Amino acid sequence: FAPGPQNRHSNLPPGSMGLPIIGETLTFILQGTKFFEFRYKKYGPVFKTHLFGTPVIRVMGEDNIKRILQGENDVVTSYWPASVRMMLGDKALSVSTGDDHRRRRKAIMKTFSHHSMSFYTKLMQQVVKTTLALWCEKDSILGFLECKSMAFDLAAQAFVGIRLHSAQTTELVRQYDTFVKNLFCLPFQFPGMGLVKGMAARKFLLQKIEECLVKKKESTGDDQDLQDAMSLLVREQDEEALDLDTLKEIGLELLFAGHSTTASAATSLLIHLHDNRHVVEKILEELDQFGLSESGQELNMDMLRKLTYVNAVVKEALRVAPPVGAGFRTALKSFTLNGYSIPEGWMIAYSIRETHKTDFFTDPETFEPSRWLTGDELDTKYHFLPFGGGARVCIGKEFAQMFLRIFVVELVKSCHWQIKSNRKMVMFPVPYPADNLPVVFTAKQ
Ligand code: HEM
Repeated sequence: FAPGPQNRHSNLPPGSMGLPIIGETLTFILQGTKFFEFRYKKYGPVFKTHLFGTPVIRVMGEDNIKRILQGENDVVTSYWPASVRMMLGDKALSVSTGDDHRRRRKAIMKTFSHHSMSFYTKLMQQVVKTTLALWCEKDSILGFLECKSMAFDLAAQAFVGIRLHSAQTTELVRQYDTFVKNLFCLPFQFPGMGLVKGMAARKFLLQKIEECLVKKKESTGDDQDLQDAMSLLVREQDEEALDLDTLKEIGLELLFAGHSTTASAATSLLIHLHDNRHVVEKILEELDQFGLSESGQELNMDMLRKLTYVNAVVKEALRVAPPVGAGFRTALKSFTLNGYSIPEGWMIAYSIRETHKTDFFTDPETFEPSRWLTGDELDTKYHFLPFGGGARVCIGKEFAQMFLRIFVVELVKSCHWQIKSNRKMVMFPVPYPADNLPVVFTAKQ
């Protein structure tokens, strides 16, 4: 099975490697996310399995997750399937390791400074308001697909400085869809296969990003159009500045990384707020308290941080339905975890979804934002991990949270909505309703 010397490891974690070659893949496809729940109950917090041709150690439990998150570059590094590595490129942050990762991360972090976040916050409010107004004009929308368009629209403006909804960008969106659709595919470059289509889309998108970068570098202005992340990075002059090839791949990654995840969280908010009228009432009370109930008011970061109930609503949606179910790593060397041997080269997946549903949280299946406001100083660091943790914690964490807060505020202020979905969920690559969530929106008078 394994790419590592597993036969030398007599003390592997409990679990089953299933059938030769296919391992437990078929059972996983049949059981969905229950697959992991059943095995945690049967084997405990660290168990082995074999999925999609790869031996996997699945990990839960505070101390075990801490060891993985703190072990970056020592015992573990990132893991991505071959197709994702090829399509994102080896300079993308998620795929980079060691010093390259540290250097690139430090450079990109500058684009999430207080100043940049203030710019993004204004942009977010514009995008959310325009989008909600459009939803209210239509007879009905497909919520998840519309949330994806909204998240892409924002990412394109905030990170690359491209405004959508124009004729020239139609092709860009089409190529981007092809890129995303083929990201997780068989890693073979034969005509007609997903990887060939995906790589062609990657080439097109990199070309477009390069054209934008060249224009930005040559521009001498200091205006509104040069505040997006790529504008900041391409004009950076110090010794940490990133070269053009790295910037192109990072631009592509930023367009992609927050897109489905943010859309999944926004869709989850649409569902939970629709089903929990008492939560909407409490949000409206909080907005009233801060004088934010009137339409047309501008939101800023300080204000948004003070809205503790709104923040609790966003946290709770991310706890109940985390867009990313697990964080993936590769063992750089053999090491011991929870008393078991973890072989070098094996994939390790620390669980986010199941970690959020343990009895660390009272009544964990229930959506209850007030749980975050009890005043108890619970240390949730290794129990609440929607954005992962450690050296690879999501770089768009603040950005995504700020966006989701604005989405909640504008949504409850300006809209009524009726969900017409059968609520069946698909869990991969992110949780979303199988029917994409048909919804009817009407504007509040
Ligand atoms: C990594 C979640 C939005 C960019 C991650 C990881 C998670 C995550 C779980 C992996 C952490 C790990 O491996 O331990 C989310 C969720 C989001 C979101 C739930 C929205 C609700 C965004 C946005 C961006 C972004 C908006 C755009 C800037 C990235 C990047 C990485 C990452 C570049 C790789 C970081 C690295 O390897 O150093 N995210 N993310 N994410 N995220 Fe996000």
